[in-house]
This record gives sequence, structure tokens and C-alpha cells, in this order.
Amino acid sequence: MPPWVLVRDFPAHVGEEVTVKGWLYSRRSSGKLQFLMMRDGSGMVQAVASARDLAPAAFELCGRLTQESAIEVSGTVRQDARAPGGHELSLTGLELVQLAESYPITPKEHGPDFLLDHRHLWLRSRRPQAVLRIRHHLIRACRDYLDERGYLCVDSPILTPSACEGTTTLFETEYFGQKAYLSQSGQLYQEPAAMAFGRTYCFGPTFRAERSKTRRHLTEFWMIEPEIAYFRLDEVMDLMEDFVCVLVGRMLEECRSELEQLERDLKPLELVQKPFPRLHYDEAVGRLAQTDQPMTWGEDFGGGQETALTQQFDRPILVHHFPSQVKAFYMQPDSERPECALGADLLAPEGYGEIIGGGQRIHDLKLLQERIREHSLPEEAFRWYLDLRRYGSVPHGGFGMGIERALTWICGLHHLREAIPFPRTIYRLYP
Ligand code: 4AD
Ligand code: MG
Repeated sequence: MPPWVLVRDFPAHVGEEVTVKGWLYSRRSSGKLQFLMMRDGSGMVQAVASARDLAPAAFELCGRLTQESAIEVSGTVRQDARAPGGHELSLTGLELVQLAESYPITPKEHGPDFLLDHRHLWLRSRRPQAVLRIRHHLIRACRDYLDERGYLCVDSPILTPSACEGTTTLFETEYFGQKAYLSQSGQLYQEPAAMAFGRTYCFGPTFRAERSKTRRHLTEFWMIEPEIAYFRLDEVMDLMEDFVCVLVGRMLEECRSELEQLERDLKPLELVQKPFPRLHYDEAVGRLAQTDQPMTWGEDFGGGQETALTQQFDRPILVHHFPSQVKAFYMQPDSERPECALGADLLAPEGYGEIIGGGQRIHDLKLLQERIREHSLPEEAFRWYLDLRRYGSVPHGGFGMGIERALTWICGLHHLREAIPFPRTIYRLYP
């Protein structure tokens, strides 16, 4: 057998005889030729089988191959500008690894539920492949951004004794006779990490028992969360803004062909440049009063409000100073207007809405103890967290960006469930 080469590496093997191991995507024949569209995970290539070059049994086999049959082929790599991917393979050998049963996903239209029930197979199709490749690049870009700026990755635990983002969306589990909760956010554990290393981040799965059935909510999603000692709200907002500009820039550079395949309009992404408009919550409420999504001061945004607000701007916006009453217990209040929290959300344009939430944390021991009591949280579970306010406490802050929210916007998807390999929602735990 000639050497095994990945389709993506074909440009370096033109004229050579190679082996490709993969699956049949589609097939058509014209007389003495069979055209096999084949994918190997790294790319797609058209393999041309002719009765002249192939043993009779192998040529006959070509005609029987079913969609998604596993095959190992050998042949010569030819440059061909008209072929998808720019190369073609002239077959000299074909071996069947497994003849696939009748494949459920065919080129015809399928409904979203059917495709989600077959997510384990749907991953092989072009559209999910483009999305998941961009996801891979986005995650790498997030890590690169922070790594290059001296942030240390310090993993937060998943099993935790306490709530971070409110007790209504906790997944509870039994932990050797004690209650434990799946982490809603790695933030609380990044705070001790930031006091130890200055600038840290975590990237991991987070869980929320969201009962709402919206296209913006998953019950399991992935978050990247930087935390920085001595950062105040303005510095946190600067970081959100720069982070998003760099990420979008990298996606435009590295994933252009995938974005084009998804038919993403690239113009709004090209407009993602500093500075982003910054709106005080008061101003946001004022602007919403002029739309069909008005709200009263003191409420949190719903999806409708986020959409109405972001449609007024051509780039992401930062909304800051939300009412403390709608925000988490750890948010530092504004010293002049304590009813407002030093928190900020970054809302993506084109109606997408919140992709980042964060802000400045309470660093005063007494105030934090009060808040824990007001929110009826068990003080004992937060003993370690309060310790941070006893030993060298400093103002600090950070944020969390949901990877699926960011990816849904960048790819121009309709629903968050397309932005994760195996989505978990209130109605879906399968596959
Ligand atoms: O705004 P959230 O709740 O903030 C936090 O969890 C902070 N502790 C983060 C921090 O400061 N380190 O969530 C942060 C982000 C949201 O902006 C959104 O992108 C995403 O997490 N998110 C969800 N993504 C998918 N499904 C859900 N149910 C989500 N809930 C939040
Ligand atoms: Mg939020």
C-alpha cells in the first residue's frame, strides 16, 4: 500500500501515489467511469475510478458502494482546478472496510428534530463540520489571547458545594451523603487563583438547569473566564472589547472558507472594531422606551430587549451599571449609586444579544457577608470565599464568555444547539 496521506495535505503530494482512508460521501457514474466523493475527516476529494486502471472486482465494488461505506483507496493525486478542493485522485486500488447500511441522512431536507436525533451521524455533514471547525479555532484563539498576555490557566472544579449564579438554575447531585452542585461558572474559584497569580482564566463546561426553551439557552455550555486582580469595571470592559475584536479578527483570517460555506455575511464581522458603544443601564432603558420592547427600571433584559437594543448599533455594545437587584450576590455596588452594580454585559449585534457577562467583585468582607445573607446563601459553604476578603483583599474583576453564544453570532446561526457537538437542553439528553 502507498503511504497514507490526509486529503488536506494533498497539495504537497501532487503526482504521487497515496492511500486515503475514509468514507463514501456520494457517488455517480458515467459509463466506464465512477466518481466517488470521499471524505477522510480532513477534507473531501473526488476519486475517479476507471475500468481501465482498476481490477474488475474493485471496479464492480465501486458500483455497489453505499453512502458512508468505509473504504481505503489508493491512487495518484492530480491537480485539477475544476475539482472540489482543487485535487482529484485517479484510483488504482479500492478496499472495502465496511459496507454501510442504508444511511438515514440523505441529501434531501430533514427537519431539525430528525437531525438532532441523529447528531452522532449529522456531525459528518458539511454544515456541522464548518461550525465545529470554527469552534475549534475560536477556542484556540481565546486561549492564545490570554496565554500571550500572561494569564495562567487554573482549572475550576465542576463539583461544587455552592451556587455562583443564583439558586434557581442549579443541577444538584448526591455527593457521598452531602449535596453537591454542577458548576454554573468557574468564577468563584478564579478569584483565589487571581489573588495567587494576578491574572488567570479557566475554560470548561458549565451547567444551568434552564427551564426556558429559548434558542439562547443550553443546560450545558462552555465558558472562558478570565479574572484579574486590581482590575476595576472600566478595565474589565476594555478587556472584553479587545478580546472580542481580536477573536473576530482571527476568525475572519483563519476560518474565511468555513464562514463562506455557512453563507455568513462577513460585513458585520468586519465592522467589529474598537471602540464599542458603552451604555449605562439608564440609557438602555431610555432607548428601549422608544421601541416595541419597553421595560421598567429595575428589570433584567429579556431576549426581546437585547435584540431591540443591539439592532440600533452596527457593532457590539457594552451595557453597564445594571440594577444590583437583578445581578449576582458578588457584584460590587457603585459607590455613588449603590442600587447599581459595577457589572457589564457585552451584547453582540444583528439581534444576537449577550455573549459576555462580568464586572467588578465585592472586595469588602462585611458587605460580602451581608449580600450572602440577603441572598439566603449558606455562609458556611462560602467560608473559603470570604477568606479572600480577609487576607490582602483588593478590587478585582473578570468576565465569562459563553463559547456557544459567541460562536452562534460569529457563524450567523439561528440556534445555540448548532454551536456545540452534542447539545443539552431541557428536552434533549440524547444522543
Ligand atoms: O452572565 P453570566 O451568568 O455570568 C457568569 O456566569 C459570571 N460568573 C462570569 C464571570 O464573570 N466569570 O454568564 C456568562 C456567559 C453569558 O454571557 C453567556 O454567554 C453564557 O455565559 N451563558 C449561557 N450560554 C448558553 N446557555 C446558557 N444557559 C447560558 N447562560 C449563560
Ligand atoms: Mg449574564
